[in-house]
Amino acid sequence: MAKAKTQFVCQNCGTVHSRWAGKCDGCGEWNTIVEEDPMGGIGSGPGKAPKKGRTVALTALSGEIEEAPRIPTGMGELDRATGGGFVRGSAVLIGGDPGIGKSTLLMQAAAALSRRGHRVIYVSGEEAVAQVRLRAQRLGAADTDVLLAAETNVEDILATISEGKRPDLVIIDSIQTLWSDTADSAPGTVTQVRTGVQAMIRYAKQTGATMVLVGHVTKEGQIAGPRVVEHMVDAVLYFEGDRGHHYRILRTVKNRFGPTDEIGVFEMSDKGLREVANPSELFLGERNEKAPGAAVFAGMEGTRPVLVEVQALVAATSLGTPRRAVVGWDSSRLAMILAVLEAHCGVRLGQHDVYLNVAGGYRIREPAADMAIASALVSSLAGLALPADCVYFGEVSLSGAVRPVAHTAQRLKEAEKLGFSAAVLPAASPDLPKGSKGKWREVDSLPDLVARIAGSRLKAPADQEDG
Ligand code: TYD
Ligand code: MG
Repeated sequence: MAKAKTQFVCQNCGTVHSRWAGKCDGCGEWNTIVEEDPMGGIGSGPGKAPKKGRTVALTALSGEIEEAPRIPTGMGELDRATGGGFVRGSAVLIGGDPGIGKSTLLMQAAAALSRRGHRVIYVSGEEAVAQVRLRAQRLGAADTDVLLAAETNVEDILATISEGKRPDLVIIDSIQTLWSDTADSAPGTVTQVRTGVQAMIRYAKQTGATMVLVGHVTKEGQIAGPRVVEHMVDAVLYFEGDRGHHYRILRTVKNRFGPTDEIGVFEMSDKGLREVANPSELFLGERNEKAPGAAVFAGMEGTRPVLVEVQALVAATSLGTPRRAVVGWDSSRLAMILAVLEAHCGVRLGQHDVYLNVAGGYRIREPAADMAIASALVSSLAGLALPADCVYFGEVSLSGAVRPVAHTAQRLKEAEKLGFSAAVLPAASPDLPKGSKGKWREVDSLPDLVARIAGSRLKAPADQEDG
């Protein structure tokens, strides 16, 4: 009989190796390969005696579909991110940096659901019962009927939640602490995490309870050990934010039962997370409208417009190689905008340090921010403040042309709602709202934009006289 072999699994990406190595071929990480027992994991290893399977009923693709019944929490921002509430019988993974507020969010959600008459079980593997109670008191959730357990053993957890009336929602905080008797590996390894998550998902599918799993993200940005469980669950939400700032974003990256481009916005306060229904107000909060180098970007997050200020500082350098520092945006995208400014607009930045910051610790992911960033850079270099009532958006190509972006009407509507009466946007933008009071300045190229800012001609010819 073949000797039972152990395998070597990368803890970062899950790649299986036949022997130990310092570096993983799969993801290139060092010292992430750990010896594990394949028999302990899901499915059986080579050493296991073959077992005759049970026959399952095969069925047709057509047929009745049961409406996926959801349980909304009543927390608008959370329900928006999940696509209208937690789906019964589904497994949701909530990832995020340690300390970002995952436990806080889930405790608030648990309390909200419990107040609506649902049976909620909160299993904490990280904190003792007393600690969780303390947090619940602080969040004003102590008077609810949320049931609490501090446990990390998978079999014990399953036995506990299977007893009595079926829960509507079970929260496991966190998957990294789960360990099962059936897996030989150490807690926190890929095999253990997978086995634990697999068991929890099976419970959810069998009983119709919703399973919410918390996973900590490693410094590489993947859910630790864990990237390996993303494909097993029905929805993956990331809770992100900058620890130095108060706002938090719940971002949907996978959702089998809803859209994946939605976000929920929260603000961390001393009484827990507060929902932010209008994120733009948060990011525009402390604006100094007279300072050069600031431009307001009319962005989109999924189906939702978000206005955010971008700040640039361009200053003569004392270094041989000028510095380029970016917070909240892609640094290679900044390099591209700087190159286009140099090549096509005659803006010389070789002797200047460039610093770029997105207000509020927010992170912009859209290329549509190009125009706002270019405007902020030119404004800082020229020492000219941009008009305070104007927003910017549009994508810049390497040729210096400015390209239209999607959702023009929605961006402009949000800008108008927040008191901005002007916008600089790409020429030939589709769905430009007709009959609107706003002044829309269409630019067709980056040189055009630069000339307008440098000549302070950002006002359209028709309203030159009023400024
Ligand atoms: P927590 O939910 O424990 O984070 P995670 O579960 O993601 O590791 O949140 C921890 C942080 O949140 C901690 O730094 C304190 C802060 N916090 C508040 O500011 N206000 C509150 O009411 C609570 C409960 C936490
Ligand atoms: Mg926690």
